[in-house]
Amino acid sequence: MNMSVDSQKTFYIETFGCQMNVHDSEKVIGTLVHEGYRQVETVEKADLILYNTCSIRDKAEQKVFHRLADYKKLLAQGKKFGVLGCVAQQEGEKIFERAPHVSLVCGSASYRNLPQMLVQLEAGNQAATEKSGSRKPAAGSPLRITGLDDRETDECFETEFTARTNPHRGYITIIEGCDKFCAYCVVPFTRGKERSRTSDSVLAEARQMADLGYTEIQLLGQNVNSYKDPAGKPGGKKTFAELLAAVGDVPGIRRVRFTTSHPRDFGRDIVEAIDTVPTLCDHVHLPVQSGSDRVLNAMQRLYTREQYMERIAWMKAAKREISITSDIIVGFPGETEEDFAETLSLLEEVGYDSVFTFKYSPRPNTPSLALDDAIPDQEKSRRLEVLMAKQKEIQIARYKKYIGTVSEVMVEGRNESRGQWIGRTSQNKTLNFTAPESSAPKVGTYVPVRATASFPNSLLGEMVV
Ligand code: 5AD
Ligand code: SF4
Repeated sequence: MNMSVDSQKTFYIETFGCQMNVHDSEKVIGTLVHEGYRQVETVEKADLILYNTCSIRDKAEQKVFHRLADYKKLLAQGKKFGVLGCVAQQEGEKIFERAPHVSLVCGSASYRNLPQMLVQLEAGNQAATEKSGSRKPAAGSPLRITGLDDRETDECFETEFTARTNPHRGYITIIEGCDKFCAYCVVPFTRGKERSRTSDSVLAEARQMADLGYTEIQLLGQNVNSYKDPAGKPGGKKTFAELLAAVGDVPGIRRVRFTTSHPRDFGRDIVEAIDTVPTLCDHVHLPVQSGSDRVLNAMQRLYTREQYMERIAWMKAAKREISITSDIIVGFPGETEEDFAETLSLLEEVGYDSVFTFKYSPRPNTPSLALDDAIPDQEKSRRLEVLMAKQKEIQIARYKKYIGTVSEVMVEGRNESRGQWIGRTSQNKTLNFTAPESSAPKVGTYVPVRATASFPNSLLGEMVV
């Protein structure tokens, strides 16, 4: 590169939200670096400041606006601001009104146009008028570049420049967007319609990662089970389960995970794949949201408790024990005490290893916005606490069972203050462990560990030498 480091354009990026957002940022970073930018670790050092935002719950957009207001003063230093992700898509051009120092607002469905947008950003107002979707600014008015019109696109954000931070395990997007329209969920409105990558392209990326030394791959999508291979070779179109198995068969890959699954599309063939391909991790995240049929129906989840439990039964019948985790919302409009009690009984019936619990919050554009959010926050909090206490009990019992067993862990790091190594099992459980100094393991390697103690969320053990 001819450019001296000092003359290089710099950027700072902060990421909120789900794994899809984290991985989108890795792709955005790679794109920017390819375009000649250098990533810096502080806002102060950056020419361009990017926020990759999440709008799944609460008043996420307000937090973004507060943060942007904090940085308004930096405009005087010539810095530029961009808002990416779900709040960008949701609030759109309103962001320019409320935060006039922002010059770029771009939803995830438009990231593939980022290189052109960066050119516009650098060229200033002139170029901004050329792109459809960009508003023509009046002379002297601030630069406003938008990427908001692509929610109906069939294209994915494919890039060869993904900047993965972890050298051992990495994400691969297989499907973007969501067509499910659960009543509470903002995602179909922020990430656009469902579109899958070809299995050829996913497998090529998996092979490339294996060549670079990655051993763990996590396949990502808002709903991985509705993956539809758009353009496999004749006879080569893969179902999700086949794609999963094929990624698991890539030489060098030792672990394959996938998230998130929608129960409606979760097929038995996934369990069969886990049964036959040893590299597929024995963990499935299968969000249930509620244990009550009435609430599931109001949520437009498209399955009943019985159908959900059927999927759980498939997993319980698997050859390896599959660890099951879930997401649950309490206080959805109209959720009664009885409905809530059914969620508690479902927890008992399934025996999850971990549950992410949320208080319902109304989101813009969603169908449930029309329903009265009548359950007081205090009551939602109470239900949340009851739920978490019940789940904690379940986890204490479940984690205890592993004491004395040996699991293979991937070494993720070291906790110096505790003198422990941090490990993760194939079931996605944290298993921290000690090891004799003479055989200290390397981060990214796989070692056998015997569990000696258990906690509600993790295990403790000793490396088997
Ligand atoms: N309110 C509360 N929780 C929500 N989730 C999604 N939308 C909402 C909302 N409006 C939760 C669901 C989902 C997880 C990612 O976030 O449980 O599975
Ligand atoms: Fe947040 Fe959902 Fe967007 Fe992920 S897809 S960043 S969870 S709103």
